[in-house]
Amino acid sequence: MYLNKAEEKMLKGEFGAAPQMAMRVLSKLGDKFGAEKMIPVSSVHCVLRGNSPPGETLEMEYLQRLVDMGAKVSIPVDQNPAFAGWTEEDYRLIQTPSRIAEIQNRCSECMSKMGATLEYTCTPYLVGNAPRLGENVAWCESSAVIYANSILGARTDRYTSYVDWLMAIVGRIPEMGRHLKENRKADVIIRIDPKIEDWRDYDYAALGHFIGTSLGSDYTPVIENFPKSAQVGDLIQLGANQATHGGISMYHIVGVTPEARTLDDALQGDKPRDTLAFDPAALKEERDRMGGENSGKVDAVILGCPHYTLAEVMRLGKLLRGRKLRAEMYLFTTRTVKQQCEDSGLNERLRRSGVIMFPGNCYSSGARRANALGLKGIMTNSGKAWRPPWMFGSVEECVEAAVRGER
Ligand code: F3S
Repeated sequence: MYLNKAEEKMLKGEFGAAPQMAMRVLSKLGDKFGAEKMIPVSSVHCVLRGNSPPGETLEMEYLQRLVDMGAKVSIPVDQNPAFAGWTEEDYRLIQTPSRIAEIQNRCSECMSKMGATLEYTCTPYLVGNAPRLGENVAWCESSAVIYANSILGARTDRYTSYVDWLMAIVGRIPEMGRHLKENRKADVIIRIDPKIEDWRDYDYAALGHFIGTSLGSDYTPVIENFPKSAQVGDLIQLGANQATHGGISMYHIVGVTPEARTLDDALQGDKPRDTLAFDPAALKEERDRMGGENSGKVDAVILGCPHYTLAEVMRLGKLLRGRKLRAEMYLFTTRTVKQQCEDSGLNERLRRSGVIMFPGNCYSSGARRANALGLKGIMTNSGKAWRPPWMFGSVEECVEAAVRGER
């Protein structure tokens, strides 16, 4: 592939060992996938997977090696949820083995030495990293990638651990995949039946599950007749479920996606390969498939996968006002939102109801705590977190179930 003068110099090692290694790997990647040239990216969202064996020490050693080579990031970088920077009380609550916490803190030290910001979230676009239309970024984390492509109109493929840091060092990636206009074209229409009314948060998860399981990663859907009442949190759920259950990295919503002012825009003037209908029967089938009808004792409710927005936490606060939970309730959000809730007194009110807020961490930690405490009846409103035999419902249903301790 073509490299410009600066990139050639990096490859020759004129900017140091770390940029040289990065350029060597990235140019090979570009060659492999037929990229013609490198393009600049404005941010990288990294995934730190060091929370389960055997990957955690490998990643730590890798980051240490980059530090030893004198590596520095050249563009803004943030991270996916992790255990880093937690207090002893946090670790006790989440039942985290101290060895994992130690490893993640060592990873954080390395990232900090390389110049990365230490914000840990799967919703970086809510806390200051929101690229604009057409802006190229290199993000990991499937739910963030699909949000960036589909709602913000930014351009990113689904990148992965290890290569993410190399992209951050040189601030460049091979031009390929979703970075090219022709690979962003919609090819299947999802037509929502207007008979579906009163959309609730988990209906967006169900729609995402329907699209993901019906299509898979070779398709780029475009949704017609999308409800105007959808909030940011609903869009996050919709994308996260397509990505998790179908590996989809981009979709369009007519009138919402910046590249899809019309259906024809989304299709780039072409004919679709197929059209699927999403009607009340399909919605019910999806809800049922995801444990929407499951009932029984509720021991713990998990909210915030992906991380809850401030609006979602405020809504939860209203639903819980003055009420006491019988079940445990774990809430996952960004550190920034947690701070806003502390400042406004909302977190204190949630705490009094029995909510445990875990900032900067992943819902899987809630599942770990529930498991360690022997809690079996789990309920969530997240289609991404949900797994059989958990119960699935809207946030209102989750709250009612947690208050009663059963569903
Ligand atoms: Fe975020 Fe973890 Fe869910 S990274 S999207 S809370 S699986």
